[in-house]
Amino acid sequence: MTSPRIVLIGPPGSGKSSVGKRLGRTLGIAWRDTDVDVAERAGKSIPDIFFDDGEAAFRAFEKEAVATALAEHDGVLSLGGGAVLDPDTQELLESHAASGAQIVFLDVSLAKAAPRVGLNRARPLLNSNPRQQWKALMEARRPIYERLATATVLTDELNPDHVARAIAELEDHR
Ligand code: S3P
Repeated sequence: MTSPRIVLIGPPGSGKSSVGKRLGRTLGIAWRDTDVDVAERAGKSIPDIFFDDGEAAFRAFEKEAVATALAEHDGVLSLGGGAVLDPDTQELLESHAASGAQIVFLDVSLAKAAPRVGLNRARPLLNSNPRQQWKALMEARRPIYERLATATVLTDELNPDHVARAIAELEDHR
């Protein structure tokens, strides 16, 4: 089975995309982001999908994009923050972990995530009162991120280059 070598999971503002890009470069392997796949497939941006079609339609696109990427990508894969909510996706991630994929939870505190996501209007789930919405998302999802992760990196005091380096070092010791 083709499997990504590393899958990055975590809430908005944890750095999944910026770390994924750098990690791919560091390890000399391809990087892919399922948010990008979803927008390409739908032919419009994620905020437009939420606005025109609703969250359920977005989640259906996302589920398919994640399953496709897990089946065909062998590099670094960054997932959208809510992708892990789907039970079938959880099962897929567990089976990829069992066959050697490293699933890395990029953990981050509200204090560090809020300024990052608050400034970014491209996140429809955090449109009004981003701090409070982020906190609720993270509380609901933390047990899932923790259960699926084969490794966790607390990113609070690290920039994306440092996080990428920390994950690359984990790889060296496997
Ligand atoms: C979402 C996170 C976003 C994007 C969509 C929904 C979520 O990705 O998939 O807006 O449910 O947390 P990021 O985690 O890259 O912001």
